[in-house]
Amino acid sequence: MPPVTVAARARVSLPGPRVAARTAVDREAPLSHTPRPVILDCDPGHDDAMAILLAAGNPTIDLRAITTVAGNQTLAKTTRNAQRVCTVAGIDDVPIAAGCDRPLRGALLTAGDVHGESGLDGPAFGEPTVAVDDRHAVEVMHEVVQHADRPVTIVGVGPLTNVATYLDRYPADRGRLERIEIMGGSTGRGNTAPYAEFNVLVDPEAADVVLRSGVPTTWHGLQVTHQATATADVLRRIEGLGTPLAAICVELLTFFRDTYRALFGLDDPPVHDPVAIAHLIDPVVVGTARLPMRIELVGEHTRGATVVDTSGRTGWEPNAEVGLTLAHDRFWDLLIDAIDRLGAAG
Ligand code: RIB
Ligand code: CA
Repeated sequence: MPPVTVAARARVSLPGPRVAARTAVDREAPLSHTPRPVILDCDPGHDDAMAILLAAGNPTIDLRAITTVAGNQTLAKTTRNAQRVCTVAGIDDVPIAAGCDRPLRGALLTAGDVHGESGLDGPAFGEPTVAVDDRHAVEVMHEVVQHADRPVTIVGVGPLTNVATYLDRYPADRGRLERIEIMGGSTGRGNTAPYAEFNVLVDPEAADVVLRSGVPTTWHGLQVTHQATATADVLRRIEGLGTPLAAICVELLTFFRDTYRALFGLDDPPVHDPVAIAHLIDPVVVGTARLPMRIELVGEHTRGATVVDTSGRTGWEPNAEVGLTLAHDRFWDLLIDAIDRLGAAG
């Protein structure tokens, strides 16, 4: 099988560890394998923004669409933030489509205390120049999957309302999906409720639809994403790239750091969402295990909990891959390299 070349966005193959910064970008570099078609569903959100950059900047990912959902902020704000990120990163060939503006059941819960009033506070963004597709996110998911020449991977890093709605509306598409990688849940305590992580808490019904869909799922919960810390050394490495995009990333991560210090007493913020992308790029970056998992839908104090049996004492059948460990340095090598590529191409 001859190597496939990818002309778009000047992608180069990685020889191994991160290439020397700012090397000349070969626009027709051969890739060792065909890039994986991916739809990224997100609620930007500072860490969602990093996930967009990793998905768009890494040569092994073929980002076919960015779909937005209400979560960290309202749908209008998360959609505008996706436009902002794509504008500053020069991502102008990936459709952005807005989806559901509320969870399947109950009222929308947002996280302005974490991400700010805009949902992407920190940098002073100009007017976005990247447009929003006029189709609904679920229709874009369906069309991308229908026209793909290979099974598509959906990455969900916000509440799973769009993904669940898509799976219910187009059940025949399930056989055309490679898998669904999710940032969501926790094998331990939550971050928004004592036993519930934000994405699953906002829409537990949607998370349950996805878990029971029959499509293979991997759940990168807080137990692994809290290892993805943006340390001072990471911020220095990003700043050292010296591009306008890198400077914006430093501003985003600095805002995120200040929030996590104030709200959670953490020195360095966990950059949750790109973990789900990194696992697709290099599976050894995230250690996983196949475990039994349930979504709590009715608990008076535990609704939205992801109940993961890590001891095997329930006798439940394992039904999900669960992210457990992260290779921190390799994770940041991938993300910094993607920021470098996009910044250099801009
Ligand atoms: O709990 C963290 C998750 O909730 C992340 O995806 C963050 O962006 C928010 O959506
Ligand atoms: Ca998110």
